[in-house]
Amino acid sequence: MERLQKVIAMYGDYSRRKAEELIEKGKVLVNGEVVSELGSKVKSSDVIEVDGTILDKNRNFEYYLLNKPREVVTTTKDEHGRKTVVDLIDTDARIYPVGRLDYDTTGLLILTNDGVLANKLMHPSSKIDKVYVAKVNGKVDGSDVKKLRSGVIIDGRKTSKASVKIKKYNKKNNTTIVQLTIHEGRNHQVKKMFKALGYEVVKLKREKYANLDLNGLKVGEYRRLTFKEVTTLYSLVK
Ligand code: URA
Repeated sequence: MERLQKVIAMYGDYSRRKAEELIEKGKVLVNGEVVSELGSKVKSSDVIEVDGTILDKNRNFEYYLLNKPREVVTTTKDEHGRKTVVDLIDTDARIYPVGRLDYDTTGLLILTNDGVLANKLMHPSSKIDKVYVAKVNGKVDGSDVKKLRSGVIIDGRKTSKASVKIKKYNKKNNTTIVQLTIHEGRNHQVKKMFKALGYEVVKLKREKYANLDLNGLKVGEYRRLTFKEVTTLYSLVK
């Protein structure tokens, strides 16, 4: 069960506010009956009519969450014949990745053929939180943590505020595990942020994206997003 205005916003290309307005004005029918209460819930089999048009819930959109392995490119086709993230998913739909992870980065990647959602998620104004865990060469000290938090200059522009936690320092290998939460999605952002301070990222994994994490998924495995997860993503970008 999902709230009516959420479902209308998701399938009808309306903002949540517009959807609420249409409901209040009595312009929304569920299974042929006017529903003008905002809190109403609907199930996926309900037929919803908005302003005279039936919502097409069969737009055949598919949404996947992949735990991307290393040595796979985040594109739909690779000119060098390397394996792509799309090759890992068993579907005939023309899905594509939402954003990028580097060839050697592992972790959470969404793939879909829903261009509206994909574009919104990738738009900088959406400010979707992404949590990365990086293994970097050297001992990351407190002053550098502060710099990462407040922003460092990469490609001539300061990065936005980040949340940064040191998870572990390995004395033997002289490496530090750092958790970094950012909402920008600039090219090679995490690697460049560390590079700006003189560290090299030797391993990088994305553990979270918005409301999603990798729980239950081994590297290379994937699953479909649930209806609820998709509606939550929509609510985050509206
Ligand atoms: N930042 C990077 O440097 N690489 C990625 O793959 C993702 C974020």
